[in-house]
Amino acid sequence: MPEQSPSTLSRRDFLKLMGAAGTALTFAPFVPWGKFMPNPDAAKLEKVPVILPDGNQANVNTFPVNHAEVITYPQTGDRVLDEEAFRKWQFIRLPAELGGEKNDVSSFRAYSMVCLHLWCLWKYWPQEGRKRGECPCHGSMYNPLTGTAFAGPASLQAPPSNTLAKLELEADASGDLWILPAKFSPNENGVVGYGRFVK
Ligand code: FES
Repeated sequence: MPEQSPSTLSRRDFLKLMGAAGTALTFAPFVPWGKFMPNPDAAKLEKVPVILPDGNQANVNTFPVNHAEVITYPQTGDRVLDEEAFRKWQFIRLPAELGGEKNDVSSFRAYSMVCLHLWCLWKYWPQEGRKRGECPCHGSMYNPLTGTAFAGPASLQAPPSNTLAKLELEADASGDLWILPAKFSPNENGVVGYGRFVK
């Protein structure tokens, strides 16, 4: 039988445990989940550009209002690792009615795409009458302004498991957008797949 590396084994065991534990996680907000969830290692993170799927850096002067793209954070340069769901974020420019026409960083949000219910990937829908994040699995819906679920099963979970992990963004003098180093804890950027306390 081929040997399995300890990290593969422990991650698989962890995922099994998650299945068994179910919503029990919701009732343990003070455990440092960032250490146990498959979140990236925050200790190694630096300020990095927001790189769009076309390879360009996002800029406040060119990114369309009421529009979203998938970004990867943190990028490793390894194609397989960079495909992990836990590295995928919806980078959103808010619709005009939520302030998205301002040519500064306040128009932008970046939320983890891992739905807080059972970890399907949600995405932003810009169509009239939607303009919200929607999860295809069980219908959780997320407010693009805050990252908090307002409908579906994720909205019924206790904080922090009703609000998505979020990246902090910064714009430089030329309008280029950057991601500030994330701290994956419920009281800071939040924990991917677990949630974030709203301050
Ligand atoms: S996994 Fe998203 S609503 Fe269930």
